[in-house]
Amino acid sequence: MALREIVHLPAPILRRKAKPVIKFDKTLQTVIDDMIETMREAPGVGLAAPQIDLPMQLAVVEYAEGEDEEEENEDREIKKKLYVLVNPEIVKVSEEKVNGVEGCLSIPGLVGEVERHKEIQVRALNRHGKPVKHKVEGWMARIFQHEIDHLNGVLFTDRAAKIWKPSEEDETPLD
Ligand code: NI
Repeated sequence: MALREIVHLPAPILRRKAKPVIKFDKTLQTVIDDMIETMREAPGVGLAAPQIDLPMQLAVVEYAEGEDEEEENEDREIKKKLYVLVNPEIVKVSEEKVNGVEGCLSIPGLVGEVERHKEIQVRALNRHGKPVKHKVEGWMARIFQHEIDHLNGVLFTDRAAKIWKPSEEDETPLD
């Protein structure tokens, strides 16, 4: 496995629509493993292939449900969940939307308030090409929407109602 370089704005690839993955070969497995390693090293909660300069419909997400909750849940075991999304497609969204602060590994030094669907259903392929369906909500749903946006050349700054430079103690998860 190897770390890949994360590209930043104004890299044109961040504005392009990624192409569907059609071959589930050894090369793809290496790309996926490298993306997971690069995301963890950053550290980030998600990474899309265009962020490592690959125009592929592929993203990884790793986040622990409850990471954003208050201390009352401190004792609860927090387990990180890893998703590999190949050719993901949002098939259902909740009417309810929620605001949250997002940052992006490809846009260092800026965060923004973005409205996202509270709950979504996503159809995708797993790393071996098998169809999967994920129903996610809250922060996980936010990360999924942020990553799927990346595959369409859309960045959080396009959707943010407000954008600002975070102070050092702000800890916004990046993806
Ligand atoms: Ni991002």
